[in-house]
Amino acid sequence: MKKLSIILALITTMSINAQQSLKSPDGNLLLNFSVQGGKPQYSLNYKGKQVIKPSFLGLELKGENKMEFGTEINRNDNNAENSLYDNFKLVSSNNSTFDETWEPVWGEEKQIRNHYNELEVSLHQEVTDRKLIIRFRLFNDGLGFRYEFPEQKNLIYFVIKEEKTQFAMSEDLTAFWLAGDYDTQEYDYTTSKLSEIRGLRKTAVTSNASQKVFSETGVQTPLMLKSNQGKLYINIHEAALVDYSAMNLDLDDSNFVFQTWLTPDAQGNKGYIQAPSQSPWRTIVVSDDARNILASKLILNLNEPCAIEDTSWIKPVKYMGVWWEMITGKSSWAYADVPSVQLGVTDFSKLKPNGKHAANNENVKKYIDFASKHGFDQLLVEGWNVGWEDWFGKSKDYVFDFVTPYPDFDVKMLNEYARSKNMRLQMHHETSSSIRNYERHLDKAYQFMVDNGYNSVKSGYVGDIIPRGEHHYGQWMVNHYLYAIKKAAEYKIMVNAHESVHMTGLHRTYPNLLAQESARGTEFQAFGGSKPNHTAILPFTRLMGGPMDYTPGIFEMQISKLNPENNSHVNTTLCNQLALYITMYSPLQMAADLPENYERFSDAFQFIKDVAVDWDRSIYLEAEPGKYITVARKAKGTNNWFVGNVAGYERFNSKIKLDFLDSNKQYIATIYSDAHNADYKTNPQAYTIRKGIVTSKTKLNLTSVPAGGYAISITEVTDKSQLKGLKKM
Ligand code: NOJ
Ligand code: CA
Repeated sequence: MKKLSIILALITTMSINAQQSLKSPDGNLLLNFSVQGGKPQYSLNYKGKQVIKPSFLGLELKGENKMEFGTEINRNDNNAENSLYDNFKLVSSNNSTFDETWEPVWGEEKQIRNHYNELEVSLHQEVTDRKLIIRFRLFNDGLGFRYEFPEQKNLIYFVIKEEKTQFAMSEDLTAFWLAGDYDTQEYDYTTSKLSEIRGLRKTAVTSNASQKVFSETGVQTPLMLKSNQGKLYINIHEAALVDYSAMNLDLDDSNFVFQTWLTPDAQGNKGYIQAPSQSPWRTIVVSDDARNILASKLILNLNEPCAIEDTSWIKPVKYMGVWWEMITGKSSWAYADVPSVQLGVTDFSKLKPNGKHAANNENVKKYIDFASKHGFDQLLVEGWNVGWEDWFGKSKDYVFDFVTPYPDFDVKMLNEYARSKNMRLQMHHETSSSIRNYERHLDKAYQFMVDNGYNSVKSGYVGDIIPRGEHHYGQWMVNHYLYAIKKAAEYKIMVNAHESVHMTGLHRTYPNLLAQESARGTEFQAFGGSKPNHTAILPFTRLMGGPMDYTPGIFEMQISKLNPENNSHVNTTLCNQLALYITMYSPLQMAADLPENYERFSDAFQFIKDVAVDWDRSIYLEAEPGKYITVARKAKGTNNWFVGNVAGYERFNSKIKLDFLDSNKQYIATIYSDAHNADYKTNPQAYTIRKGIVTSKTKLNLTSVPAGGYAISITEVTDKSQLKGLKKM
């Protein structure tokens, strides 16, 4: 028996030298893995082209704190024990295949196929007698891999100094990038060659309530890359970010090699792990057709199946908000103009109202009337609770209690009023990043919502994190966001988080996370404006991880019309705003402008009223990062389709075939498109609306002006009388 176990031990610790290869199910992608001089490395090819050159894998650990009677006696940071990236031998490998189809609770598709070939490599580090597993999953549209730390006596608790995963690019690619930052993604994207990142970093970074740029060549993920010749599109991100710090990348711009750069905690440490455990998946989506990048479900597939048993209460939401008027500065979140208030001390009923407080009974009722008349599900109301007088920039700990309304906001009456009109209010929890305070109040706050009939919350994380020194994207905060989502599920509450960490597909597991902001949303159009091609990039970057609460639907582009002191301009046409409901996929869509602006353009507003928020199918028809995106989506449970197109800096001539329609049916299309003289700066509200008959044979040629777009609703003809007066398109 003893002999047998020795032989077995020998077999398992003997290294196998051969290079390990894995092909995607369609054979287009080829992964190679090997251990070179003790260092694990991988490379990736697509249709014979190099996507990732040989790149090293592994982690660097922090020296152990050796404590003797409470005194730290030794921290060895320069020790073989700290390397989880060399001295390895490949001891075994396992290949397998997986193919299943699953149904998301909500989504772009009714069904999603999860089909991959897997390679699991087991590595052994002789000097330390430690094991590391790397698991690769190769799909037709890309690669996912992660580190697994099995339970073992020599590696139980450890601290990550840095993850050293490399992505070596084959040339000076074009990148659509945000400067690497531990606290914000609310920057405009910069498009440049990799070699230009260092020089452009200064202009890429604009001010934010909380920000921490870490390197001259740091970038965030999802990172979109494009080859300069011979079309190749590459997207790098992560999936299933759980109990680990969010990933940034740092570029060695002499060699075009990216390396992971995790977000540190207040002490500079990058992760606290207890085995058995694993890292998030590192993802590389690849295609020679940009449309396939947008259609990829790789990140969702790498997440765990839904963890919520009863999902009947989770429903997509179309909403309006008492919001844009505050964002533009027309009115305020705060009830009074005083420099400081203290919860539990200040008597808010005694404060002199500033006359600009938007969340007041009368105004909220006006919005409810309008939103319910036009079929919206919810109304978000911000600034309803006490504390907004001095809520940020002060590193204030006890800033909100999430249950006490201002004197002019009647929670019970307004919720009942909304319910009587078939709507609900959407709760707002601005935490001002005082996490300790939020977690202390969370149960009470959620219970308050349930008691008053709210079923969704917009949470927010503006400003520097308390505990001080922590970052928005560190492991500690990553754990907080998920804690808030899981706890919300216990109360049957849906979550829409702002300023939180980038999405990584966790909405597959926790579909009550409807959407996040976590990027530069529409609000920045009122804070000075965003680049004209911003929304032609976002689906290739931020949205790769999950839906965004982008808050589209602005019809009045000149913000000074709302607030004479604000000269910002919304850098899009009105039709571009309509298209965003289709091109920026989200089960949570806002009509962000004021009711009076929708009344002025009621014929265009009809599209926002009609558009669906949940889909059975999505087809990306045309796409090029930063330049244009055209997508058609079939509304859930119907035969109706919606098509949207956005253009970047240049005019775009879109040519689409409606061959996705049923061949034996007729449809009525309503096309909302930029007028020929539309101009996002000088004439953004110039549009035309045409109605006609279309079939699966119809071809459409439509032009979008720079920062423009078009939107089409296509409804099945169920009665011939509907065709009266209409011509074929
Ligand atoms: C920033 C959010 O993105 C915005 O939507 C919200 O109104 C403010 N924070 C205040 O919470
Ligand atoms: Ca924000």
